[in-house]
Amino acid sequence: MSELAVKGGKPVRTKSFPEWPMYDECEEKALLDVLRSRKWWYGERVREFEEKFASYQDARFGITTTSGTTALQIALTAAGVGAGDEVIVPPYTFVATATAVLAVNAVPVFADIGRDTLNLDPEAVRRAVTEKTKAIIPVHFAGYPADMDELKEIAQEHGLTIIEDACHAWGTDYKGRKVGAIGSMGAFSFQASKNITSSEGGIILTDDEELADLCRSYSNCGRGKDRPWYEHYILGGNYRMTEFQASILLCQLARLDDQVTRRMESAKVLDEGLREVEGIELLQQEPKGKRRSYHLYCFRYVQEGFAGVPREKFIEALNAEGIPAAPGYPFPLYRNPLFERRGQGPRYCPLSCPYYGKEVDYTKVRCPNAEQACREVVWLPQTVLLGSKEDMEDIVRAVRKVREHAGELQ
Ligand SMILES: Cc1ncc(COP(=O)(O)O)c(C=O)c1O
Repeated sequence: MSELAVKGGKPVRTKSFPEWPMYDECEEKALLDVLRSRKWWYGERVREFEEKFASYQDARFGITTTSGTTALQIALTAAGVGAGDEVIVPPYTFVATATAVLAVNAVPVFADIGRDTLNLDPEAVRRAVTEKTKAIIPVHFAGYPADMDELKEIAQEHGLTIIEDACHAWGTDYKGRKVGAIGSMGAFSFQASKNITSSEGGIILTDDEELADLCRSYSNCGRGKDRPWYEHYILGGNYRMTEFQASILLCQLARLDDQVTRRMESAKVLDEGLREVEGIELLQQEPKGKRRSYHLYCFRYVQEGFAGVPREKFIEALNAEGIPAAPGYPFPLYRNPLFERRGQGPRYCPLSCPYYGKEVDYTKVRCPNAEQACREVVWLPQTVLLGSKEDMEDIVRAVRKVREHAGELQ
């Protein structure tokens, strides 16, 4: 019988990795306190979290929202992005990075990522700029910071706004400054899988007071700052966070920094253990900052190094060894029915819009690095990185074991 667990052998581990979300008496007490206070609505805990999170990320202002998606939409709206505008986005990201652009009636334009960073490639961004470009949304993918200096240079040259999609990057810094307000604004998510969570929720960070006031107004029914309650100035909505969410997030935030350290230590063990394995290529090695959130630990699987075994079979074998590896996005965003307009996607504005004056055909988009990443990259979730050094060594052992027996997976 094969030694591989997927073929009936003994798995490297049967122990599970840390459970997520994490909570302790802090969340239990905080939730009960809110419950008993009967002050459940958008109040002092929301304000306290906004201030603490903004300060943790080196930003002046924080405006909470219902999700990372709505944080992006509000930031785009506050930046004045709308009908007729293009926004440059990467195609290797969660769909919200691009659909937030459609939601404000603008057109997402996909620029390729760097092969090793998985972040927007500044050269590809340069090539994607047109007279209609209004903004760039770099994603700090998996918590690795985007090339902010180069992107800011491009933005300055062309008068563009940068909105950071920092939905993987709580605690990440770029050259000594935490991400989120390095561009004009940044959006974070607190959805259930994220490194700090209240099940759902989001926040916009900025250093610009005027933008902060605008975002607040958009997120709170178009109300004016210090103006009467039933006066509405702009077309806002209800994107408010609850006190329950903020009370949980305050506890999660207090734990975040230690967890960032833990994940970074785990990533180091994985880097060291996987570096020498033939067929595995490490990504994102150039240090761009001192702290990295590691929402995911990503590596590249080169099937030739594993006797030609397809990535999906490698992942299946790793899973059987007790390692929750995943393939990530199956294809770049522009291959989704929504963008290829095979599904119920936008058939008229903003994609075929007399106001825009161009016809968009996403079936013709090619971003080779993003396509290769979808074929080759393997993800380990952030929860795994909260495990012990021995847990990380199990991962390395499992990868080595699968490689050693790769011939049996044909
Ligand atoms: C890169 C990225 N951007 C945006 C979002 C959207 O965040 P939310 O799920 O809170 O709307 C996510 C969430 O998965 C994400 O990973």
